[in-house]
Amino acid sequence: MSPKTKVSLVRHLCVSLWMLTLCCCYAFTQNDYSEALTKSILFFEGQRSGKLPPNQRLAWRGDSALSDGSSYHVDLVGGYYDAGDNVKFGLPMAFTTTLLSWSVIEFGNLMGKEIENARGAVRWSADYLLKASASTPNTLYVQVGDPNMDHRCWERPEDMDTPRNVYKVSTQNPGSDVAAETAAALAAASIVFKESDPSYSAKLLQTSMKVFDFADQYRGSYSDSLGSVVCPFYCSYSGYHDELLWGASWIHRASQNNSYLMYIQSNGHTLGADEDDYSFSWDDKRVGTKVLLSKGFLDDKVEEFQLYKVHSDNYICSLIPGSPGFQAQYTSGGLLYKGSESNLQYVTSTALILLTYAKYLSSNGRVAVSCGTSSVTSENLIALAKKQVDYILGQNPAKMSYMVGFGERYSKHVHHRGSSLPSVHTHPDRVNCNDGFQYLYSGSPNPNILEGAILGGPDNRDGFSDNRNNYQQSEPATYINAPFVGALAFFAATPMAH
Ligand SMILES: *[C@@H]1O[C@H](CO)[C@@H](O)[C@H](O)[C@H]1NC(C)=O
Repeated sequence: MSPKTKVSLVRHLCVSLWMLTLCCCYAFTQNDYSEALTKSILFFEGQRSGKLPPNQRLAWRGDSALSDGSSYHVDLVGGYYDAGDNVKFGLPMAFTTTLLSWSVIEFGNLMGKEIENARGAVRWSADYLLKASASTPNTLYVQVGDPNMDHRCWERPEDMDTPRNVYKVSTQNPGSDVAAETAAALAAASIVFKESDPSYSAKLLQTSMKVFDFADQYRGSYSDSLGSVVCPFYCSYSGYHDELLWGASWIHRASQNNSYLMYIQSNGHTLGADEDDYSFSWDDKRVGTKVLLSKGFLDDKVEEFQLYKVHSDNYICSLIPGSPGFQAQYTSGGLLYKGSESNLQYVTSTALILLTYAKYLSSNGRVAVSCGTSSVTSENLIALAKKQVDYILGQNPAKMSYMVGFGERYSKHVHHRGSSLPSVHTHPDRVNCNDGFQYLYSGSPNPNILEGAILGGPDNRDGFSDNRNNYQQSEPATYINAPFVGALAFFAATPMAH
C-alpha cells in the first residue's frame, strides 16, 4: 500500500467512524420532531408586536406598540420583537423572514397541517416589511425603538413606555445591508405565497425588486449613519456586499428574471463569491448565498453558478473532521461551537444549510461532496444535521432541552421580558420600567412559557446555567428558530434508520 493510499484510507475511516458516532444513539421519534416543529412555529406568536389576531394561540400575550410609526406619520405597527427585549430591529427581522421562508420553500411540503401556521409566521413579518419599504420611495424604515432606552427597563411589551423612535435609511444615509436583506426576505416570502396567495406574492416580489434597486444604487452600510442605535446590537460587521449578492440571488430564485442572473455574474466576484467563510448568521450571508446558488447549478444547470457549488463544498468540508479544509469546532458532546453568545443560532442555521444542500445534491443524483480524498454523502450531511438537532432537543451531556416547553428538562428562566413578567391578563396593572427588574433577578421560574423558543444554548463545555440574567445562554431570538423550523419539518417527515 502506498503511503498516499494509506493516508486516504485512514482519513476515510476517521470520517466514517465519526459519522457513525453521530448516528449511534437514536432516541427521538418522528412524533417528537412533529411536536418540536409545532412548538418552533408557535414561538413566533410570542414575539408578535402589534394587534394580535383572534386566532392567536399563545394566550398570555396581548396587543402592544399599536402606535409605532405614528409620530413619524408612517404605519409601522406589527412585526416581531427580535429576542428578549421590545425593539423591532430591521436587519434580524428581515433575516428571520428570509430563513423562515427558506424553511418553508425547501421543507414546507413535509409540514402537514403546520404549513398554515408556518405561512402565518412568514406573513406576520412580511406584512411589516412591506409597510416599512413601500410607504416612501427610496426610504426604508429599519428600526422602531431606542435599544439603549429599552434595555434600561424590564417591561412587558404590552405596557412599555420607552421611546418608540423610528430609524430609516435613505439615499443620503444608505443602508445596503439592511435594504438588501429586506429585499431577500420579500423575495423569499413571495415564493412561499406563490400558489396560496398569488397577488400577495406578486406584491412582495415587486416591492423586493424596488428595495433591491435602492440597496444597490445607494451603497453604504447602515452602521455608518445609525451606529448609535444599531451597534453593537446588530451592527453590520460583515459590511453590505454579502447582502447584495444574497438579495440578488433570492430575487433570481423567485423571479427567474435574467437581469438578476446577469447581476450575479457581473458583480459576484466583487461581492464575495470567491471567499470561503464559515459562519452563517444575521450578519454574514455568504455561506447561504453559495448554497442557494448551487441549486441553480445542480438543478437548473446554470453553468455560471458552478463556482458557488465549489465554495459550498468547501464549506461542507470545513465541518467534517479529517477533511483538508476542516476548521469547525465541536464540544465534546458534539455540538458545533462558534462563540459564547447565542451559539445555537449558528447550529440551527447550519442544520438548515446541511439539509438543504443534501436535498440539492440528491435531487441531482450527484450524491457526494469530495473533501480531499474522502467523499461525504447526502446521508452524512443529514446525520450531522440530526446530531445537532438532537443535541438541541435534549441529547446532550447536560440532558437539557434547549427548546422551551419541549422534553423533561428545559430552561425555566428564559431571558425574555414578556415571559418572565406576569401576563397582562392575570396582572393588568402596569409594571413600571424599574419595577420589572425584580422579575429579571428573581430565582422564580418564568410565569409564562415561551413555547418553542430555542435559547442561546450551552457553553463550549456543554454546560448551561439556567439564569435569567445570563442572556448569552438563556435568551431566545427569532433567527435562532427560523432555520430550525425547516430542519424539524425534515426530521418529522423522514423515517431514520437506527
Ligand atoms: C426583470 O428585472 C428588471 C430589473 O428589476 C426589470 O426592469 C424587468 O422589468 C424585469 N423583467 C420582467 C419580465 O419582469
